[in-house]
Amino acid sequence: MSLTGKRVLLIIGGGIAAYKALDLIRRLRERGASVLPVLTAAGKQFVTPLSVASLAGVSVHEDLFSLTEEASMGHIELSRAADLVVVVPATADLIAKAANGLANDLASTLLLATDKKVLMAPAMNVRMWLHAATQRNVAQLERDGVLFVGPADGEMACGEFGPGRMVEPLDIVAAIEKALASSTVIPLPGNGPLAGRKIIITSGPTHEPIDPVRYIANRSSGQQGHAIAKAAARAGARVVLVSGPVAIPDPSGVTTHHVETAREMLAAVEAALPADIFIGAAAVADWRVENAGAQKMKKSTSGMPSLQFAENPDILASVSAKSKDRPALVVGFAAETENVIAYAQDKLARKKCDLIIANDVSPERGVMGGSKNEVHLVSKSGVESWPLLDKDEVARRLVDTFSAHFKKGGVA
Ligand code: CTP
Repeated sequence: MSLTGKRVLLIIGGGIAAYKALDLIRRLRERGASVLPVLTAAGKQFVTPLSVASLAGVSVHEDLFSLTEEASMGHIELSRAADLVVVVPATADLIAKAANGLANDLASTLLLATDKKVLMAPAMNVRMWLHAATQRNVAQLERDGVLFVGPADGEMACGEFGPGRMVEPLDIVAAIEKALASSTVIPLPGNGPLAGRKIIITSGPTHEPIDPVRYIANRSSGQQGHAIAKAAARAGARVVLVSGPVAIPDPSGVTTHHVETAREMLAAVEAALPADIFIGAAAVADWRVENAGAQKMKKSTSGMPSLQFAENPDILASVSAKSKDRPALVVGFAAETENVIAYAQDKLARKKCDLIIANDVSPERGVMGGSKNEVHLVSKSGVESWPLLDKDEVARRLVDTFSAHFKKGGVA
């Protein structure tokens, strides 16, 4: 991919890996991008403003106050002048500041003021990287939508071995290209293509109790549903996420209700209605155990248990069937292991929804619990198949599809 015309705001932090930022500038400019360099006070200990400016072909921004006083370009303007903000190396200190919203120097102020995606390439000592505080900060930034590339495993300048080495400039270029492949503007709440829309999304599995300590579950991780919730919130929608038990964090900017069973999920969805869009991404258990024990079943006294099943309510079908308050767009998922399109078409008709997102969840595809998904959009107007993509990218494209639906005023 050519980076012609793309502008990268490059924040160079203070670490031994800062020298790689110089090579990165060269690689980006070779590909047609322009670089707005920012050097932190610590970064200046490792690379000089002169070498950065010579390679970037523009002067280096270093000081928050001179920037505002000179009024050449205020920090707000600078933070938004680029298509993408890239932090190389992202030190433990910069990560901690960004995770906590500090703004006490130019770099941290830019990170707080920007309306663009941020990509960080961490580099630090292995113990600093693995420290609970850094991991907590990284998890927070990921929830906030910050992208990360690396760190890699390897021998470090300090002589220790493990994760913490910054990835190579070409890996960062690839991550920049990937980030720039879709929109990098983060709309303010209330702005964006889904502004003013309310979306309810179910996600994850449901757990159906057998007794107080045992349950029936499935392999859904909630990643796809949560990614859609995050992408929809970023597109300006008011999002209610009804999540079954998952091991992933609640997305930021989304109201999340935690439930266990299908019946609790239905109740939470009913309570959240009305909405403009309903998306059933949860892998809802088809059955519950009707004779679930109030106490733990004992091996010694009860012999072989005999479970009786009852059918769970179909949340998607019941939302679709509403005569009053039916969302304008009702979207279901079809997780299949064979006849993917045919079964999806059947579900579209049976559950009376507007769109089914079908995917093949055969174990060899690695979709359930994995980070990628290959989906087919099945609607009355036909089938659109997408290539294998990251679940985040699938989510972004789905949100674009939903936005287009409302623009067109018809079925996507
Ligand atoms: N779904 C739901 N409530 C249920 C079962 C499924 O809301 N009790 C929703 C899912 O969230 C998904 C869609 O229906 O959007 C299809 O789910 P799936 O389990 O594939 O369909 P089933 O109705 O269970 O059909 P089958 O068992 O025949 O595959």
